[in-house]
Amino acid sequence: MAIHYQREKRIFTLQTEHTTYQMKVDDFGFLLHLYYGGSISGDMDYLLTYYDRGFSGNPADVGDNRTYSMDVLPQEYPVSGVGDYRNSALVIHNVDGSDCCDLRYVSCEIKEGKYGLPGLPAVYAEKEEAQTLEITLEDGVNGVQVRLLYGVLEKEDIITRSAVIVNCGKEEIVVEKAASSCLDFLTGEYDLLSFYGRHAMERNLQRAEIGHGSYAIGSRRGTSSHQYNPAVILAEKGATENAGSCYGMVFVYSGSFLFEAEKDQYEQTRAIMGLQSEYFHYPLREGEKLVVPETILAYSENGLTALSQKFHRCIREHICRGKYSRQSRPILLNSWEAAYFNFNGATILKLAKSAAELGIDMVVMDDGWFGKRDDDNSGLGDWHVNEEKLGCTLGELIRGVNAAGVRFGIWIEPEMVSENSDLYREHPDWAMQIPGRKPVRGRNQLMLDFSREDVRKLIFERICGILDQGNIEYIKWDMNRSIAEVYSAVNYPGKVTYDYMLGVYDFLEKLLARYPDLFIEGCSGGGGRFDAGMMYYTPQIWCSDNTDAVDRLRIQYGTSFFYPVSTVGSHVSASPNHQTGRSTSLHTRGVVAMAGTFGYELATDSLSEEEKEEIKIQIVQYKKYEELIQNGNYYRLSNPFHDACAAWMFASEDKKRALLNVVLLENHGNMTITYVKLKGLASDALYEDAETGERYYGSALMEGGLPMPAEKVEYPAYQKEFRMVTA
Ligand code: GLA
Repeated sequence: MAIHYQREKRIFTLQTEHTTYQMKVDDFGFLLHLYYGGSISGDMDYLLTYYDRGFSGNPADVGDNRTYSMDVLPQEYPVSGVGDYRNSALVIHNVDGSDCCDLRYVSCEIKEGKYGLPGLPAVYAEKEEAQTLEITLEDGVNGVQVRLLYGVLEKEDIITRSAVIVNCGKEEIVVEKAASSCLDFLTGEYDLLSFYGRHAMERNLQRAEIGHGSYAIGSRRGTSSHQYNPAVILAEKGATENAGSCYGMVFVYSGSFLFEAEKDQYEQTRAIMGLQSEYFHYPLREGEKLVVPETILAYSENGLTALSQKFHRCIREHICRGKYSRQSRPILLNSWEAAYFNFNGATILKLAKSAAELGIDMVVMDDGWFGKRDDDNSGLGDWHVNEEKLGCTLGELIRGVNAAGVRFGIWIEPEMVSENSDLYREHPDWAMQIPGRKPVRGRNQLMLDFSREDVRKLIFERICGILDQGNIEYIKWDMNRSIAEVYSAVNYPGKVTYDYMLGVYDFLEKLLARYPDLFIEGCSGGGGRFDAGMMYYTPQIWCSDNTDAVDRLRIQYGTSFFYPVSTVGSHVSASPNHQTGRSTSLHTRGVVAMAGTFGYELATDSLSEEEKEEIKIQIVQYKKYEELIQNGNYYRLSNPFHDACAAWMFASEDKKRALLNVVLLENHGNMTITYVKLKGLASDALYEDAETGERYYGSALMEGGLPMPAEKVEYPAYQKEFRMVTA
């Protein structure tokens, strides 16, 4: 049993293989947090202390006891208006104008299996793999009920949290802020690891001390964003990849979010993950409810690598769905960097033929095949094949590609409309615009109001109309701007960002129901919506529009803290690189792209014979390592932001096979030697370098490391397979 409830003491204990989470309903009905961390035995309520604290008020129930204050006690779901002056998880605006919600314990229920969330992505599990705890709290005055949901995946060391806000009162309330998780720490000095970035340079790691005051990251863009990823780590001071306590919080949501970390006056730390409160005013009438997207929580007492591996497993096996979640992915050749908008059917066929020759599985026709779309200023919304441009029907093209022995995929961007499109001319009110104001354009396009069912319905029909024209096995679902006008012609503006996201999820769910074998890769100008929410529908996401191998080392390093390699869309592109102008060898580009789902994004039909031969070998190599890369344990061996090399490896669960990958970043006169220490091997086992036959003990490779060659080339890459052998 992962969940225990001690009825007399009203203590809840959630137990996973290596962690314990505990909370208690106290004499006044408040739900207090007691502990989250490494496994412990016994009750942790002895940690609660009570002292008379100046300017920290006391609830009326406690009478003249001045030692009891919500401003000091650790809580499960802090609310506004009850004397806790720290950040709240929930802010309710009442009909009388007050912002107050005083939640007290009502009941609990323990169920087998993992809860699901209507309309939202969430961790899933078999009935015997998980348990659910539902705790109901209620405000006796406004009638608001909050159902706190806890999912416990014991074996995976994962706890999930969500909250359902229900208006059981008579009057309308407005939810002004809602989070799904709060972690209150009584002790500890923490660093916050967050992942910031920009278009084409996503998920850079920032590590900064959580000091006094409140520090927030988030997105107001209607997407999880390139700028801040909705996933953070609180690491004990000094925690490293291999040692120290750290907590991870991953929000399973793709829209605007808010994370807040705060150290309070008593050196206690609070971390809250939830919906963005700006542009959000969600009214609930009697009987209506709001489901807050869930947060996945994990704890590691052995540093960051172990924490990342828990998230990798959870996302790969309990978020990603469909036949492709665990199956081998097609190696793609995408037309974008090969031809941009400048192609016709013959171009795609030529790419398909060269793909077949090289051993590539699928060709993807990117942007530019529909409506009037010869650049990115027009045509979005007009989901009709431009047969004139292609010089054939889509069906003919697909049959040609398949006849060449290659599968076919296509790019779409359903959430958008160009002002220069028939769709916009017919339905200008479908675009998100504030009446009387000129729109903010992004990439010269507007957002369609996906909070509206009628809008989604027509786009759905049009997209199905395309998918039904032939054997389309893959789509790249793109989204190329941020929401600026949080407005809808028919929906209340305060509901728009959330309802929009639910609309996108609804569309994707319906699409997958109609085409269960369709493989969808997510994309938002690369990694602008790279989150666990999208991964529920799109088990692979284009990681960044930046395909430069050296920049990708950093982008993929940041991404690796939470997201498994199987979700990371990564391609070999041309050199010099189109985004940076940097030149790297084909080998280096291949090694870097193999830290993802692997594919190509260049004009394979105009490569030299030598390059073609190299690519053929690269593909054979990748297929040999694929299982290890996609499902093995991932280890970061260096920090490419600081170290002279980027190094990472994959090791099989049984430690019998491992693949080391290194790219050297520095080159100077009379160069120093870089030693890379491996991880995840069996210390006393003997390993053989699959290429050279040289043998080393696991302990030697992990403690002494391997010297990398000092070659006179820029950004050389090395890939070495090790196999366990008997002496
Ligand atoms: C976005 C994507 C690219 C490409 C273009 C097409 O930028 O991230 O990969 O599909 O759109 O317009």
